[in-house]
Amino acid sequence: MEQLAQIVAEAPAQVAAVSSLAELDELEARLLGRRSVIAELQRGMGSLPPERRPEVGRALQEARAELQDLIARRRHQLEREAENLLLEEDRVDVTLDAFRLPGGGEHLIQQTIDEVCEIFIGLGYVVAAGPEAELGYYNFDALNTPPTHPSRLESDTLYLDWGDPADEVLLRTHTSPMQARFMEAHDPPVYVVVPGKVYRADTPDATHSPVFHQIEGLAVDSDITMSDLKGTLAHFAREFFGPRQRIRLLPHFFPFTEPSAEMHAACFHCEGTGAACRVCGGSGWIELMGCGMVDPNVFEAVGYDPGEVTGFAFGMGVERLAQVRHGLSPIRHVFENDIRVLRQFRGIA
Ligand code: PHE
Repeated sequence: MEQLAQIVAEAPAQVAAVSSLAELDELEARLLGRRSVIAELQRGMGSLPPERRPEVGRALQEARAELQDLIARRRHQLEREAENLLLEEDRVDVTLDAFRLPGGGEHLIQQTIDEVCEIFIGLGYVVAAGPEAELGYYNFDALNTPPTHPSRLESDTLYLDWGDPADEVLLRTHTSPMQARFMEAHDPPVYVVVPGKVYRADTPDATHSPVFHQIEGLAVDSDITMSDLKGTLAHFAREFFGPRQRIRLLPHFFPFTEPSAEMHAACFHCEGTGAACRVCGGSGWIELMGCGMVDPNVFEAVGYDPGEVTGFAFGMGVERLAQVRHGLSPIRHVFENDIRVLRQFRGIA
């Protein structure tokens, strides 16, 4: 009984001293397990005189119950502490300002391409795309450009070391090869626009970039005339720039159109006066595109009968369109990707 009293007396301090659930389990085994003093005393009951058994049995039961209660309360306490620790570690400061992901937006160049395509879709054109790595045949030969033409020189065109050298694989210098590819693949009538990247062997500076964007247009039908070309481009300019933008067509030369022209827009900076203007160089006009009536030799090359069809084509510079429309100078602002510039055009339809 003395031993029992001592165990019960010492237990509260022992239980209070454990600092983890594992330690508490160990202590519980020591105090109440099969090899504990209490268990031993219980097993020794048989050797007591019968009249003492009830008293000792009750004392053992009470001691056991008291220890169990102590341990259970400590266990509950330790569990709560562990849980609090977890919660503390997981604490989130909801008062911190959220990290805002900067919202993306379409690049000015893509916005311009989409808007131009929409205008031509409104006229019944379809949109197509072609390869940027192109064959010399489509970039030049099918477009009535002789092997001796200066634009074929390596000083102007970027050639790729790829495939059979006779194929002259190159980075397309304009979107015009898609004129030939599209006509090869489709019977007339054809009404198509082709936006895309083009490449030239230019050193980048304020007005030149070795990569820029064009949108090719091609209309082929049974009786297309130069008036249709002028009317279509005038409609396009009104839609894209608004009714106040002045434009002009000036005679020009391209191997694949005859007659050929350049379309110009009145300079946004000097408003067409040209007076000492650093943007247009004093002419009062800014070139937007080349255009003309499809040369019969091109129809021959793609298997169309030049006696049956006529057509016009144009190829506009996307960066130029954006520059003139928004009054951006120098033009490198359009392709330089300075976020402070691009941000101003986010969401422009
Ligand atoms: N491909 C010509 C260029 O890049 C533009 C053009 C296209 C001219 C279609 C006439 C017809 O300069």
